[in-house]
Amino acid sequence: MGSSKFIPLASPDINDEDIGEVVRVLKSGMLVQGPEVEKLEKMITSFIGVDHCIAASNGTATLHLSLLALGISAGDEVIVPAFSYIATANVVELTGATTVFADIDIETFNINVDSLEKAITPNTKAIIVVHEFGLSADVSRIKSIADKHNIPVIEDAACALGATQNGKKVGSYGRTGSFSLHPRKAISSGEGGLITTNDDQLADKLRVLRNHGITVANGKMDFVAAGFNYRMTDFQAALVSSQLNRLPAILSIKRELAEIYFEEIDGSRVQMPSAPEGMLHTWQTFHVLLPDDLDQGEVISQLRDRGIGTNYGAQCIPYQTYFLKKYKLDSVAKFPNALKSFKKGLALPIYEKLTSEDIRYISRQLNEITSK
Ligand SMILES: Cc1ncc(COP(=O)(O)O)c(C=O)c1O
Repeated sequence: MGSSKFIPLASPDINDEDIGEVVRVLKSGMLVQGPEVEKLEKMITSFIGVDHCIAASNGTATLHLSLLALGISAGDEVIVPAFSYIATANVVELTGATTVFADIDIETFNINVDSLEKAITPNTKAIIVVHEFGLSADVSRIKSIADKHNIPVIEDAACALGATQNGKKVGSYGRTGSFSLHPRKAISSGEGGLITTNDDQLADKLRVLRNHGITVANGKMDFVAAGFNYRMTDFQAALVSSQLNRLPAILSIKRELAEIYFEEIDGSRVQMPSAPEGMLHTWQTFHVLLPDDLDQGEVISQLRDRGIGTNYGAQCIPYQTYFLKKYKLDSVAKFPNALKSFKKGLALPIYEKLTSEDIRYISRQLNEITSK
C-alpha cells in the first residue's frame, strides 16, 4: 500500500450480523438493561470460567463498582501500577482512598511485583493489577502475595478479554475482574464494561450498586444503598454477544499480525514487546519503545504523514497534573520505567481488518523513521 490510504490506530469491526442483532433488540422496545444483558452475562461467565458476570456502562464504572463493593473508602490505600490508562487510578480517587503507585517492568509494561510488595502497608485494602495492553501480569504470584496479607486483588483486564496465564483466563484470578468494551478493544459496545467474580455476596452488592441501590424481595422493591445508574443497555449487550462468538478468531488474527511485526520491525532500534512464558497476549495494543534519541511526538507526526495513525500507549499516572499536584511524587526517581514507557512508548495499529501487507508497510515506515 502507499500513503494514499490512511491506516487508523484502531477500527472496530462491526458486521451485518452484529447490526442485525442491535436492530432486532431496538425493535423489541427493550432499550434498557433486560434479557440481552442477562444473556451476555451468562456467555461471559462460561467464557472466563467464573460464577458471576455483571455487565455495566463502561470499564471505569466496573472498576469503581469493584472498589465500592469491597468497601474501599477514605483512609484506605489502593496499590496501582504507575503506568496504565488514567482510569485505573481515577477510580481510587473517586472512593476517597489514597492511590499508591508501584513501578512497572520495562519488558512487559506490567506492574513490577517487588515494587508492589514493597508498597504494601497495614492500610493497603486493595491491589489493582492491570493486564497492560492485553498481556497478563504475573497475577498468580501477585495473588499469593496479596493472600498472605489478606488483601483483595482487582484485575483491571480492560484490554485483556481472552488473555490467559498458564491456560487460565484473566478475570478469574482476582476477587473481581474488570473488562472494557470501548471501541479500541477486540469487541465493543461503544461504551461498556464487564465484571467477573466467583464471590456470591460481592456479586449481589455489585448488582445493587449498579442499579440505584435497588433490591427486590418477595416482589417488594427497596433501596438499600446509595447506588448508581451504571447499567448497560440491552441493544449494547446484543452487539457484544454477537461479536463474542468470533472473539477467538479475532484474537488469532491479531496474533498472526503481531508475528509479522516481530519479523519486520528492526528490534535493534526499537524495543519490542515481550510475553513471558505461559502468558497468552490479546495484542489489544502492539506497544514498542522508541530509542532515547528520538522524540515520540515527532515520530507520531512523521508516521501520520505516511498514512499511519499511532499514539503513545498509556500514561505515567503520578506524572499527570492532578496526581502530581496531590501526591508530589518524583516520577524520575520513583517510577523510571513508567515514565520511560509514557515518553517513549508507541502504540501501532493492530486489528483484524488489517492485512499482512499493511503491517509490513507500517513496519517499513517505522524502520525508516527510526533508523540512524
Ligand atoms: C487499563 C484500563 N483500565 C480502564 C479503562 C477504562 O475503560 P473504559 O474506557 O471502558 O471506561 C481502560 C480503557 O481503555 C484501560 O485501558
